Amino acid sequence: MLFKLRIEKMVQGGEGFARLPDGRACFVQGGLPNELCNVELVQNKKDFARGRAVEILERSDDRVQSKCALFGKCGGCSLQHLDPLKQSAYLERVERENFRRLAHAELPENFAIHVGPAWDYRNRARVVLKADKSGKVVYGFRKQESRSIATFESCPVLTPALNAFLKENAAKIFAPFVGRRAFELDVNLFDNGKGEISYFYRDMPAKEFAKNACSVVDIAGCKIHSDASVFFQSNLSLLPELVKSVQVAVDEGIASGEASDAWLIDLFSGVGFFAAILKDRFKKITTVERDDGCLKHAKVNLGESVGRVVENVSAPAENWLVENVVDTPATLIVDPPRTGLPLDALNAIVKSSVNRLVYVSCDPVTLARDYAKFAAAGFSLKKAEGFAFYPQTPHLEMLFVLSR
Ligand SMILES: C[S@@+](CC[C@H](N)C(=O)[O-])C[C@H]1O[C@@H](n2cnc3c(N)ncnc32)[C@H](O)[C@@H]1O
Repeated sequence: MLFKLRIEKMVQGGEGFARLPDGRACFVQGGLPNELCNVELVQNKKDFARGRAVEILERSDDRVQSKCALFGKCGGCSLQHLDPLKQSAYLERVERENFRRLAHAELPENFAIHVGPAWDYRNRARVVLKADKSGKVVYGFRKQESRSIATFESCPVLTPALNAFLKENAAKIFAPFVGRRAFELDVNLFDNGKGEISYFYRDMPAKEFAKNACSVVDIAGCKIHSDASVFFQSNLSLLPELVKSVQVAVDEGIASGEASDAWLIDLFSGVGFFAAILKDRFKKITTVERDDGCLKHAKVNLGESVGRVVENVSAPAENWLVENVVDTPATLIVDPPRTGLPLDALNAIVKSSVNRLVYVSCDPVTLARDYAKFAAAGFSLKKAEGFAFYPQTPHLEMLFVLSR
């Protein structure tokens, strides 16, 4: 059954919000604010529904033709129908409302979103390689809500170097697996920004790992060692702006006396990314990361730290915080995954002597949730910035500075 609905606004996740005739909220994929759409329901719950705009009866001026043939099929890039130049303004409105609703607070008036290139930006991806019926090796993205694969020849958000690499090397990477029935190979790919591609798949032979998985990224005057099996930021074009903002936030903390240069604690540190860039400012540095694969890189990235104490800890951040009482006003950076801060970690920070926190987040929803808890414990929001690391999608990277 179709409903003719007027989209009122965009909500977290990029869907349009509308009301069904019975008053229930309906989240509409593909509908933009102010548009009148024919909506087909895909989920019909007691309190709300989800739908898909199957016909746009009155168009928004901000609607554009999607660029990619896989739009709506691969599960990524769900905002391709919105003018790339307008996406950050829409996301800013969404985040202001999200924060109001979840944290019962206002984002600062000067909250703004840093933007970079709309296409060709994504330097890290996971693709699936397989042989088609004729034996030809093809590749694609795994669709979000199923195990099936949307194949592509070229993806317009991947860097040109990643697209070229796939075209030239997919068959070679898949060669050892040819003949295995219905076999699919998940491969992580990483472009280090200089067009040098590294890749990784599970159970990759050690020799191949040493030759093909490792990478070095030049950023902020540092050479950061990593490999394609572990986390690394996915938008190298915009990353220098995030790094700059983190540097400014850290320097302001030290200058104000709220945080000290005696000790930098980088939690959820990956390969020691932020600590490596900031290391010259501090007498002691601790990085904490639970993925063991990061440890050897963190040791290298913080290796040239003569004259200062460095500890690279491989452990869950919450365990480290509970076991190591931070009783000085150290400089603290946290950059957790989408799930946000584990409650034990948040409580330990509140109990510690840390007075200032630089919180890098890849999920504004869990960030707002965590902020509300910090606010209840006496922290206030000093600074908020957004980073459009994933154009054509509703995802946003955020930086908060909190202090008490
Ligand atoms: C968003 S990434 C940030 C990494 C790093 N700050 C960077 O910029 O490259 C989050 C990292 O947290 C790690 N992680 C996830 N849960 C963790 C936990 N409970 N304790 C410690 N590290 C964790 C992940 O392995 C990942 O490397």
